[in-house]
Amino acid sequence: MLRDDVYRRPLATAIDRLGVAAGWRVVDVGAGAGDVAVALAEIVGKTGRVYAVDSDPAARDETAHAAAEYTQVLAITQRAEDLQLPEPVDLAFCRFLLLHVADPVRVLARMRAAVRPGGWVVAQEPITSAGRVGGLPLSMPDVPSPDVGALLPALVGEAGLVLDDAWAEAPAGAGPGPVAAYLEELTEVDPGDDAIVLPPLVTVLARREASVP
Ligand SMILES: C[S@@+](CC[C@H](N)C(=O)[O-])C[C@H]1O[C@@H](n2cnc3c(N)ncnc32)[C@H](O)[C@@H]1O
Repeated sequence: MLRDDVYRRPLATAIDRLGVAAGWRVVDVGAGAGDVAVALAEIVGKTGRVYAVDSDPAARDETAHAAAEYTQVLAITQRAEDLQLPEPVDLAFCRFLLLHVADPVRVLARMRAAVRPGGWVVAQEPITSAGRVGGLPLSMPDVPSPDVGALLPALVGEAGLVLDDAWAEAPAGAGPGPVAAYLEELTEVDPGDDAIVLPPLVTVLARREASVP
């Protein structure tokens, strides 16, 4: 929930930019506790569908709990590398997923295969080493691709997608507040009154071509 709090602006920007609307069928890959799935469910409504996919069975239970009142949310345990849905979707989305995978292009290609021709693939991933506390770089987490955000605009092309737009956004602050609280949760170190720039989140909006060869 805290991540949703500090990184909600990039999510809102992407949803607005795409014009996600009632009736859309979407998948959130690496859905975690289901924050994004619930946000999407509120927009697509009862006539839409939100698949919340995660490799961790505990995430399915958390999402099912978070989305209990949204019958349009279906939580599934599946690896992103093996993503397969019962129907094509209008949008395949991921946030803070690709940094955890060894082969981000493979996952983006599975997301491409999951959308209808002309549909969207949207990824929001960090450049972890570009975060700063007191002007100094954040230490890198022990994950396979901590700076995948920096490569994302090119990776979508490698996955066979057409890049439509890309940008980066980073929450920042100093002193007590959600940014400091989030950093403390992440690092277990209280940043005090130091200036904080959290890892920028790079958003890519990409499309599967309408006419597929
Ligand atoms: C940092 S959490 C992000 C959760 C959520 N997307 C968000 O932004 O709040 C990463 C999630 O990705 C899931 N995950 C990691 N590797 C995965 C994989 N190969 N396939 C599917 N899910 C994966 C983890 O289980 C975890 O729930």
